[in-house]
Amino acid sequence: MIPENTGPAAVIVLAAGAGTRMKSRTPKILHEIGGLSMVGHALRAARSINPQRLAIVVRHERDLVESHVAALDPQAVIVDQDDIPGTGRAVEAALHALHAEQDLSGTVVVTYGDVPLLSGELLTELVATHEREGNAVTVLTAVLDDATGYGRILRGDDGSVTGIREHKDATEAERLIREVNSGIYAFDAAVLREALAKVTTDNAQGEKYLTDVLGLARQAGGRVAAVVTADRWQVEGANDRVQLAALGAELNRRTVEAWMRAGVTIVDPATTWIDSSVTLEEDVRLLPNTQLHGGTTVARDAVVGPDTTLTDVTVGEGATVIRTHGSGSVIGPRAAVGPFTYLRPGTVLGEKGKIGAFYETKNVTIGRGSKLSHLGYAGDAEIGEDTNIGCGNITANYDGEKKHRTVIGSGVRTGSNTVFVAPVTVGDGAYSGAGAVIRKDVPAGALAVSVAAQRNAEGWVPANRPGTRSAELAQAATKDSSSTPASTEEGK
Ligand code: UD1
Ligand code: MG
Repeated sequence: MIPENTGPAAVIVLAAGAGTRMKSRTPKILHEIGGLSMVGHALRAARSINPQRLAIVVRHERDLVESHVAALDPQAVIVDQDDIPGTGRAVEAALHALHAEQDLSGTVVVTYGDVPLLSGELLTELVATHEREGNAVTVLTAVLDDATGYGRILRGDDGSVTGIREHKDATEAERLIREVNSGIYAFDAAVLREALAKVTTDNAQGEKYLTDVLGLARQAGGRVAAVVTADRWQVEGANDRVQLAALGAELNRRTVEAWMRAGVTIVDPATTWIDSSVTLEEDVRLLPNTQLHGGTTVARDAVVGPDTTLTDVTVGEGATVIRTHGSGSVIGPRAAVGPFTYLRPGTVLGEKGKIGAFYETKNVTIGRGSKLSHLGYAGDAEIGEDTNIGCGNITANYDGEKKHRTVIGSGVRTGSNTVFVAPVTVGDGAYSGAGAVIRKDVPAGALAVSVAAQRNAEGWVPANRPGTRSAELAQAATKDSSSTPASTEEGK
């Protein structure tokens, strides 16, 4: 749901750059941190200030970017930039597109698609300052130790902002300035439109610079000011994969810290990775090496980890999930999963249920209190309540062409190594013997056995494996027990 559009007239997100330093077939702004693309973060921050219009300027890999943006934010207006390069041209194209539909006046905010840590709070502060002070332009700046490459903020003797000089156009003296342009601004729409009409490509890069608008606005009598942020991460862009990882780590650090402040115990923040879309309740405990992705939610008192990766998994209150790789699953309250468990999509484990060690599950609903404790596979199945599935049970759900369902009732006890050859139904309270291969439905309360009679070929090992350790031990044992009667073939 898009909230009421009570904020600035427009936000324009610039995203037409090539991003060549990523060395990737994926457009730069589609690379992810915290489980969301960089442009996804940018759109989220932009949306959070409730703009009346949101435009994104694209060019490089335009079709991929367009479909990605359309999926994330269907209301965003996609604007194409033409052959004229530069941030000024990009904004001009967006103004043109927005203005063509509806007269644009008031505040226009410009942000970048590759600055993913920018928060809605900082944008709100920028817009509030801009509007309170009645500025023509308000630029978000930061003071960096190394300002190389950035546009520098020029200030007059009175400290007021007079303009921005790009690194490549700057004099030696100007390059000593450490206050930099973040590239994020609030503009008065009319000032922006009029100034952009005057911006030329007469500079070191042959581009139409958006930064030239500041000087022009001032010359036209407008007030130009800056909001200086002490949080450099919020204005940092990712140009290559090294910066992407650094921004990803910082985002995660912030996410993890926020959850700890909200009452979640995180034993090892450095090895705990939480997507920005995850939700956790108070008194959740996350143990080292845990990664929570997508729409994962963890309810109160649950313990997740160590060494667990969950994507789109709902973990119920008080559940424990140890050394598990899971996706698209629901773990009920006080249920137990792991260690070494692989939950595939469609797994639904009921309250106090258990999926134990070395189990793989997929598309299976397991009722309250039912246990699949060790070594097996359960797929395309439905299991009732308080059923105990023995060690090594398998649902043979695939006939080589199609998948079939196994339905197991409540209060069932299955022997070790039972195989359910689907489609098959086992009634309530039924049992199966060890090694049973269930090919026919089992009525409620029945014991299903399908083992062939066991035959012991006496003396087979000494006769067929003479001289081996097994044969030697067998011979010694036979001698020792020669007084006791030899066992005979069973089951006859
Ligand atoms: C720009 C600023 C610089 C600032 C820096 C902060 C200008 C002229 N310079 O420089 O003062 O310190 O950002 O990172 O604005 N883009 C387009 N169309 C274009 C060119 C760029 O949409 O034709 C987009 C890019 O995708 C990117 C953003 O604008 O998101 C910035 O472009 P970039 O080329 O990185 O600008 P810089 O030269 O770094
Ligand atoms: Mg840049």
